[in-house]
Amino acid sequence: MQNQIPARFWPHFSNRLRLLLLPVLAATAWSATLPLMPEPVKVVQQPGYLAIDSGFHAAIGGYSDARLQAALARFESQIARQTGLPISPSGDAKLQVTCQEGGSEYPTLGEDESYQLDVSASDAKLQARTVTGALRGLETFAQLIAPGPDGFQIPAVHIEDRPRFPWRGLMMDVSRHWMPLAVVERNLDAMAAVKLNVFHWHLSDDQGFRVESKVYPRLQQEGSDGHYYTQAQVREVVNYARDRGIRVIPEFDMPGHTSSWFVGYPALASAPGPYAIERHFGVFEPVMDPTREETYTFLDGFIGEMASLFPDPYFHIGGDEVKDDQWKHSAAIQAFMRAHHIATSRDLQAYFNHRVQELLKKHGKIMIGWDEVLVPGLASETVIQSWRGQKSVAEAVSKGYRSLLSWGYYLDHLQPASYHYAVDPMQGDSASLTPEQASRILGGEACMWAEYVDAETVDSRIWPRMAAIAERFWSPRDVTSVDSMYSRLPEVSRWLEWTGLRHRSNEGPMLDRLAGGEPSAPLRVLADASEALGFSGRRKAQKYTSLTPLNRFVDAAHPESPSVRRLENAVAALGTNPLAAAELRATMVVWAQSAARLQPLLANNGLLAEVAPLAQNLATAGKIGLRALDYLEHRQTPPAGWVNREQQELDRIDQPVAEVRLAAVRPVRMLLQALNGQSAAARRRDAR
Ligand code: ACM
Repeated sequence: MQNQIPARFWPHFSNRLRLLLLPVLAATAWSATLPLMPEPVKVVQQPGYLAIDSGFHAAIGGYSDARLQAALARFESQIARQTGLPISPSGDAKLQVTCQEGGSEYPTLGEDESYQLDVSASDAKLQARTVTGALRGLETFAQLIAPGPDGFQIPAVHIEDRPRFPWRGLMMDVSRHWMPLAVVERNLDAMAAVKLNVFHWHLSDDQGFRVESKVYPRLQQEGSDGHYYTQAQVREVVNYARDRGIRVIPEFDMPGHTSSWFVGYPALASAPGPYAIERHFGVFEPVMDPTREETYTFLDGFIGEMASLFPDPYFHIGGDEVKDDQWKHSAAIQAFMRAHHIATSRDLQAYFNHRVQELLKKHGKIMIGWDEVLVPGLASETVIQSWRGQKSVAEAVSKGYRSLLSWGYYLDHLQPASYHYAVDPMQGDSASLTPEQASRILGGEACMWAEYVDAETVDSRIWPRMAAIAERFWSPRDVTSVDSMYSRLPEVSRWLEWTGLRHRSNEGPMLDRLAGGEPSAPLRVLADASEALGFSGRRKAQKYTSLTPLNRFVDAAHPESPSVRRLENAVAALGTNPLAAAELRATMVVWAQSAARLQPLLANNGLLAEVAPLAQNLATAGKIGLRALDYLEHRQTPPAGWVNREQQELDRIDQPVAEVRLAAVRPVRMLLQALNGQSAAARRRDAR
C-alpha cells in the first residue's frame, strides 16, 4: 500500500510554508505549458498535434543558400538523435522554411533574428526575414517535439518570437584549463539550441596562451604546454559558429594576466625574466611594459595577425585586474611616467589602452574591455563588459559607451539557476537610465572561468543553468517566474544532451571511475543529494593549481541538484498529491541506508575517503526525514524538543564536506517546518 498523506493534513502547514508552497502548486499547472527555453515572445497553443515520424523532413520555401541548407541537414539529424527515429525523408515536407534573405553571411550585431512558427495537425511553416531568424525557429521546433499517444509529435501552435537583447553570450576560459576543440564545438551547438549568439573565447591568461601565432610562434610554443588551437582549428570554430548564427569574439587579456606571453617573449614584460607558465590561480605581478615602443610593435604584428583570423569587428583586450608592482619597481617605467606627465598606474594603463585601441582601429577592430578600461579619453565606440555590477554598466552607457553585463552571470560560482535568473542587465543602477542610455546596453554574457573545471566537467558547470540565463537575454523582460523556469529546466536539460553536450552523461563514468570495480549506484545516490561548491568554496578549501586533478567526487557532483528540487516540490505537495509522500519516503529510506551501502566502496579507496562523513550526514538526513514524515502522517506531536534538536543536527550536517554541500538537508528542513506548523495548529485546537 502506498503511504499517503491524507488531505486533512494540508491545513496544518504553517501560513509561511503555505505561502512558499503556492507557487510550487501553481507550477504543476505550468508544467503543462510548453517546455521551451528561452520562452518565446508569443505562444498560442492550439488543439491537435503534428506527427513526427521517420518520413519527416523540412523544405526550403523561399530564399536559399548553403548556410540554410546546412542548417536543415543538421536539424534533421538533430531530430533523428532526439527521437531515435531513423529519419528517411519521404512524402511531402512537413515543415516549410521560408526566409526573405540571407542576412549577412557572418552574423552581425543587431541583425534580424525574428521568426514565426505555425504548426497545425497537417504541416508546419517557419517564416523569417533572415537565415539567422530561421536558425532560431528551427531550434524552437526541435525543442517542442515530445512523445505522445501515437509516437513523437509537436503541438499545434502559433509562435512569434524575437530577442530582447542583440548580444547574448557565453565566455569560455580555455587558458586556466585547456578545452579541446570538441568541447568548444559541442558547447556552440548547445548555445545555438538556446539562441545565444556570441561566443567570447578567453584565449590567453597567465596559465596558457591558446592560439597559434605564425608571427610570434614562441607564444604557443612556450606558453601553452602544447595545448593550443592551430589557425586552421580557429577557422573551423569560426565557421562552425557562423553556421549556427554565433559570432566569435577573441579575448587576449592585456596588459595583466599575461605571464604565458612572457615565457617566449620576456622583453614584453615590465621586469626582467625569465618567466614560466603560471600554475597557480589569482592575480599576478607580471604585466606588459606600456612604456616601450617594442611592446606596440609586437602588438601591432600580433593584432594584425589575429584580426585576419577572427572576422568579427569586435576584439576583446581584457584589461582587468592589472597589478602595478612591476611598474612601481621599474626605474625606466617611473622615468617614462614623469617624462610624459602620467601620474598614476591607472593613467599608465589608460595610456596603454589608448595605444592598443589605435592598433585595433588600424586593423579594423572595435575594442571591448572589462570595467577597468573605462577611463577618461576612451574612444566612444568601445564596449564595456561589466564583471563588477550594474553600476559600471550604468556608468558606461551614461558616458555614451555601449555595455554588457556579466556580473551576476559567473557560472564558476556554481550558484543556482534562480540566482542568475533574477539578475537583469536593466536592474540596479541601470533601472534609472534614460531610454536613450538604456538602448546602449547590448545584453550580457555568462562567464565560465576555468580554475575549477576541465574538459570533462565544464559542460556540467555551464549547463543547464546557462539556458536560464539565455532566457534572461532573449525573452521579454516580464518573463521572470522562477517556478515556471524550474518547471521547464529539467526537460530542457535532458533535451540539451541530444545536442551533443555531456553535462549529464559525464557524471556516470566519473562516479564509476571513483568506485573502482564496485557498482557505483550508492555513490550516485550521494551525488544526487549533493551540490558542488563553486569558486570561493573551493579556493577556501585547498590550494589548487592548474595541475591539480579534477577527478574527485565534488567534480562529478552538479552545481544544483534537480532531484532535491523535486523533493522540495514533493514536500510542498504533501496533502495535495498522494504520490508526494511515497516519493519522499522512498528516497529517504535510500538516504538512511547510504552510509552502510557506501561502506564497501569507501574501504581502501583513497579517492573516496573524504566522502565518508558526507555519507554519514546523508544517512542522518534520511533518518530525520523519515521520522518527520511518520509524525506528519500520523498527525502526532513529536516529543518536546525533538524538532529543535533535529534542526540543530541539520545545521551541523549543512556544513560543506569535501567541497560539497548536502542539498538533501533542504527538503528535510521543510518537513520539520511542516511539523512545527502542525504542532502549532494542534496547540491552537487544544486551547479552544
Ligand atoms: C574578471 O573576472 N577579472 C573579468
